[in-house]
Amino acid sequence: MSSSSAPVVVLGVTGSIAAHRAIDLTSLLARQGIDVRVVLTADAQRFVTPVAFQTLSRHPVVTDLFQALDGWRPAHIALAEAAQLLLVAPASAHTLGRLALGLADDALSCVALALRPETRVLLAPAMNTRMWLHPATQAHVATLRARGTEFIGPEEGVLACGHEGPGRLWPVDRIAARALELLGSA
Ligand SMILES: Cc1cc2nc3c(=O)[nH]c(=O)nc-3n(C[C@H](O)[C@H](O)[C@H](O)COP(=O)(O)O)c2cc1C
Repeated sequence: MSSSSAPVVVLGVTGSIAAHRAIDLTSLLARQGIDVRVVLTADAQRFVTPVAFQTLSRHPVVTDLFQALDGWRPAHIALAEAAQLLLVAPASAHTLGRLALGLADDALSCVALALRPETRVLLAPAMNTRMWLHPATQAHVATLRARGTEFIGPEEGVLACGHEGPGRLWPVDRIAARALELLGSA
């Protein structure tokens, strides 16, 4: 899967209004020599298209679980085996639930389940404040943290929906910096 010895980051992008900021994140990581493999959920594709990600990462983008990426191998298995880090930014409430429950109904959730045990997972949530503070979301966060998943953000501020409070995506330069630290490349 990887054509070089560069660290591989699988970047999952979900259906959040902040999805466009993952384009800069892709660029930041790629400029640091990271092999970035982007997976867009179906609803992420309502906010952003694969073109910018594929150009900046210089790799095809996974948009569908049933898409072939690497010959005969399902894309989600090839990506899960190659990944040194799974980074989801922005991570929606729905995807947090999927990951906490171990659901496997799309490419991103299948990658997450098929990761090698030593692969680090870094999630950068972004959502409406009430969605973030809802006990269901917080229970999913606690479940994931207990499994060793790391969270970065969300930060407080004025949200796109007009609410003020926690829910904004953490600044992408700081997400990239933490990803590099986890890879030992900082
Ligand atoms: C305009 C708009 C903005 C949204 N922004 C967010 C968001 O920032 N965070 C979030 O968790 N859900 C947000 N949603 C809802 C998600 O898109 C929805 O829950 C979706 O099913 C997430 O699917 P995914 O996790 O598979 O990408 C938004 C929906 C709309 C219509």
